[in-house]
Amino acid sequence: MINVALPKGRLGESAYERMAAAGYDCPSILEKNRKLTFENPEKGVRYFWVKPSDVSIYVERGAADVGIAGKDILLEYRPDVYELLDLKMGKCRMCVAGPENFYDDPNRQLRVATKFPHIATEYYDSRSRDIDIIKLNGSIELAPILGLSDVIVDIVETGKTLLENHLAPLETIVDISARFICNKVSYKFKHEEIIRLRDALEKDL
Ligand code: PRP
Repeated sequence: MINVALPKGRLGESAYERMAAAGYDCPSILEKNRKLTFENPEKGVRYFWVKPSDVSIYVERGAADVGIAGKDILLEYRPDVYELLDLKMGKCRMCVAGPENFYDDPNRQLRVATKFPHIATEYYDSRSRDIDIIKLNGSIELAPILGLSDVIVDIVETGKTLLENHLAPLETIVDISARFICNKVSYKFKHEEIIRLRDALEKDL
């Protein structure tokens, strides 16, 4: 049995569809209820829904053999897992965003609000820019609007959230997409099954 951690939400649902199309369907997952684990013993697969930012923790610690995680989560938390495949879905960009006409005064410390403090710190370190990180957990776009920060470092997908809040993407830090990740011990002991699943997912690309 392969244990698969799926991120709750739109990305996880598309990821499950990819798994199903690759021959790893589990019809009970489509039932409308609040169950969190679903298995299809015939296909040798068990799925569970977890918070997107927790997928890599489940996989790193072996509670899941494999999982689907955004590259943003992998860059931020740097889990000790194998990244086996770029699924080329859930595509977006990690950006610096702020007021359209924002001028970055180099003589002042830059206040950066973000859910991704490591990514933001690394980015500004690489440019030797002194910043003050303000760690938030959501609705990041509010920070520059209310004067809590100068800019934000956040995910931009369609750009709609920025636009509707009179903000603009200023710099792209890195392109993001969903990755198929694997626990290091599982990779050794369930090698054949995991490679079969990986190859089936790759055929669909
Ligand atoms: C993410 C991100 C942006 C938005 C970008 O937020 O933090 O707010 O999506 O998408 P867009 O470019 O298509 O508008 P999410 O929905 O994860 O909610 P959050 O506010 O809790 O971070």
